[in-house]
Amino acid sequence: MTPTTPGAARDSMPATGVAGSPLVRAARREPVPHTPVWFMRQAGRSLPEYREIRTGVPMLESCRRPELVTEITLQPVRRHGVDAAILFSDIVVPVAAAGVDLDIVPGTGPVVAEPIRTAEDVGRLRPITRDDVGFVDEAVRMLVAELGDTPLIGFAGAPFTLASYLVEGGPSRNHVRTKALMYGEPDLWHALCGRLAEITGEFLAVQARAGVAAVQLFDSWAGALSEADYRRFVLPHSRTVLAGLADAGIPRIHFGVGTAELLGAMGEAGADVVGVDWRTPLDVATRRIGPDLAVQGNLDPCLLFAPWPVIEAEVRRILAEGRAAPGHIFNLGHGVLPETDPDVLTRVVELVHAASAR
Ligand code: CP3
Repeated sequence: MTPTTPGAARDSMPATGVAGSPLVRAARREPVPHTPVWFMRQAGRSLPEYREIRTGVPMLESCRRPELVTEITLQPVRRHGVDAAILFSDIVVPVAAAGVDLDIVPGTGPVVAEPIRTAEDVGRLRPITRDDVGFVDEAVRMLVAELGDTPLIGFAGAPFTLASYLVEGGPSRNHVRTKALMYGEPDLWHALCGRLAEITGEFLAVQARAGVAAVQLFDSWAGALSEADYRRFVLPHSRTVLAGLADAGIPRIHFGVGTAELLGAMGEAGADVVGVDWRTPLDVATRRIGPDLAVQGNLDPCLLFAPWPVIEAEVRRILAEGRAAPGHIFNLGHGVLPETDPDVLTRVVELVHAASAR
């Protein structure tokens, strides 16, 4: 029996600890006492305690200090009472560990010193081992010990989104060079994504061995592609990453932004849960994804700046639409914006719990 398959045996023997947590149960399409809720980017600039502890510590450096990672990861759990922690790190951490010279520039994002555009450049990307990311292994172990029954979500960037940063050299609106490489040199593209799938796969495997309760694979920018191109150039590589985690026996979440046309294809990548942005109602999304997978989402992060009655109505709408899926994890449709009032996030958690209690 695969651990993520719902079954009578499991239902008659309720799991304890993180395996019995609402997040893991929802991901496995098992009954839950309430809809679980967490927020992408819940650990971050919206929290004053985060801004304080990060003062003077560059982003990549902070990801490499296990005590700091542990404290930052725990901050939103303490404050909001969310149903999961997500490891504080960044999607470019494993590529930096693979030898790519990059920095995370405040207000800009990841910037790569020498973008990857040729076969030689791809050759410079070496596979990683546990020792290249030992700080992540340590942080996860410390967090699992601290978190008790609250699940820790591990994560990584999917090959397409990572490739975009590496090929462009930084954040990009149109992904022009990335697509030029994809269409113009498909063999090189597949070599690059194959290597990125290995790196990301090992990064997630390290987290799984250290004890994360679930993982999320972020393909944040996949929505830039048509379904046909997604299927041809991206899906096989994301599938490799997710398939590599099958034996870990933990739920896998797969998320992208602007993916309305891709939801069906993303649901074929091998995840248990598909993350949906705010553009597609969850009942529509579940029709596209199919009846076998759970969904995660999908409050517009901008809505948190609206008056409370508007937020409340939207949360209730999303909970109602989420009932169309065999499992629902409440989240935003993308990350918490830095200017968000953290008290509003706490209130959303309370509302989700109260309104979904069964
Ligand atoms: O509040 C914060 O922004 C925390 C600190 C921070 C992170 N990454 C944490 C992170 C910062 C400053 C970054 C840099 C960065 N990296 C940016 C933001 C640039 C800016 O200043 O606004 C971006 C876009 C990246 C690249 C990146 N990192 C992507 C595309 C993703 C996937 C999620 C997404 O937003 O689409 C990440 C993951 C990430 N970065 C996480 C964290 C804590 C993990 C996921 C999570 O917490 O949800």
